[in-house]
Amino acid sequence: MPGKWRCAVGATGSMKHFRVVFEPDGREISIHQGATLVDAAGQAGIVLNTSCGGRGTCGKCAVLLGPSGRRVLACQYTIQSDLAVTVPAEARFYAHKILQHGLDGTTGLQRTIVDKYRAIAGPTPICGITVDIGTTTVVAGLVDLADGRSVATRAMLNPQTRFGDDVVTRISYAESEAGLARLRAVIVDGINELIEGVCRDAGIDADAIYEASIVGNTTMNHIFLGFPVRQLGQAPYHAHSVDAHDLSPSSLGLRMNAAGNVHTCENVAGFIGSDTTAAALAVDMDSASQRTLLVDIGTNGELVLGTSGQLYAASCAAGPALEGARIRCGGRAAEGAIEAVVIDNDDIALDVIGDIQPHSICGSGLIDAVAVLSQLGVVDATGRFADVAEVRSRCSAPVASRLIELEGQPAFRLSDEGRAGQVAVVLTQKDIREFQLAKGAIQAGTRLLLAKMGIDGEDLERVLLAGAFGNYIRPASAVRVGLLPNVPLERIHFVGNAAASGARMLLLSDESRTTAAALARSIQYVEIAHESRFSEVFSEAMLLSP
Ligand code: FES
Repeated sequence: MPGKWRCAVGATGSMKHFRVVFEPDGREISIHQGATLVDAAGQAGIVLNTSCGGRGTCGKCAVLLGPSGRRVLACQYTIQSDLAVTVPAEARFYAHKILQHGLDGTTGLQRTIVDKYRAIAGPTPICGITVDIGTTTVVAGLVDLADGRSVATRAMLNPQTRFGDDVVTRISYAESEAGLARLRAVIVDGINELIEGVCRDAGIDADAIYEASIVGNTTMNHIFLGFPVRQLGQAPYHAHSVDAHDLSPSSLGLRMNAAGNVHTCENVAGFIGSDTTAAALAVDMDSASQRTLLVDIGTNGELVLGTSGQLYAASCAAGPALEGARIRCGGRAAEGAIEAVVIDNDDIALDVIGDIQPHSICGSGLIDAVAVLSQLGVVDATGRFADVAEVRSRCSAPVASRLIELEGQPAFRLSDEGRAGQVAVVLTQKDIREFQLAKGAIQAGTRLLLAKMGIDGEDLERVLLAGAFGNYIRPASAVRVGLLPNVPLERIHFVGNAAASGARMLLLSDESRTTAAALARSIQYVEIAHESRFSEVFSEAMLLSP
């Protein structure tokens, strides 16, 4: 059951954790007792095929337990000891598609590329790199082009963040030629640093990288390619180019094999970039027969809705709150971050990454925390903290004691102060407002797209949640606060970093590049802020309710 809660670590107590090693990826994680193997795989960045929503009926999530090789359903198996797990290709959400599209050995880019580069490379390895340039995070993956294997992955904070943490600020910085050149230089340096890192991890030389597949939102795509972005900052927000580009690494300043090629795929529109094209490709929106909503949460929330014949997309200016920014104690999903909050008897319990004293809260923890506060009546549907007397009358004493005043504002104390002088992790009234703005933007976008299609949220047959932190969100919390439409929870599937998976398909396969081009052109972009009902829908969507 992806994302379903099994047990919690108390704010001060500790729950047993076990090590799980996933092969052949070689990824090792630590997870609390009772978590499912689907949860553990998600934590390791491996997205399993969970067609039945974790009900144990489709058999698609079957993995092998070592050393006996016993076959178990990952959605049903709860972790009670250290484990070694082998994940076959057919249990993976993306791998079979990559195999189908890229590695069939007869057609496709990968074979062409190996042949094309073999003469230069001789017997040395021939690798490719995928880069997903997010507004906040940049993720690079090194791929062996001979067999499509993912060899190493690295991520970094987008170094452009110091010039502003959202696309609007970056666009205004890049209005001058000098500003654009500066932003371009820092992202190229950043990507080169990631290339160096993955090469070091894999023990190869950067010259072994011949092909790159780079995706990002339209602003990131344009800055990377040195295209003007001024027009992205003013209505009607047109892209300078929505086309795919193939360029030499040296013309872009990338330190990989000079004889190689850098591919950027099609953008959909000014605010729907090649990362969304790649994500939609990865989850087969081009052939979707079920009414599907793809929600990709990053600094902006990108939505793609429909079926293969009718696809709409919108971008929601969610801001970086769901990634932990602009939240008083917010942080990235790293060690010491609260990643989940649950009601535990008469108090709350936390799950903290690394099982240590928490020092921050990440996006999934924030969604949970707001859902829990709303459920307990500590905040009302408008997001306002109830006063102390109200909380005392309707909540238990341990919960009521967590309501404090901080700098003249009500706040909720999630964790105690640490022994080493660490401050308590709190959620303030302003944090709740930031959260409401972010989730309200996504919910309003969803409602307006549903209206375009003439359907209601309940009519959705699949809700696919993508984004780096998707696997950690509890669907019940996301539905409770209205971040996701109110559908039965088994219709919600986590698809991990779909943009990165799509970038990998584009790296490996000619056929995927052709599909992506058609897909990008078939998606109708909706500028939701220009919809006549936008203000009304947005203010309704600020409410903390399904
Ligand atoms: S059987 Fe596990 S997801 Fe369907």
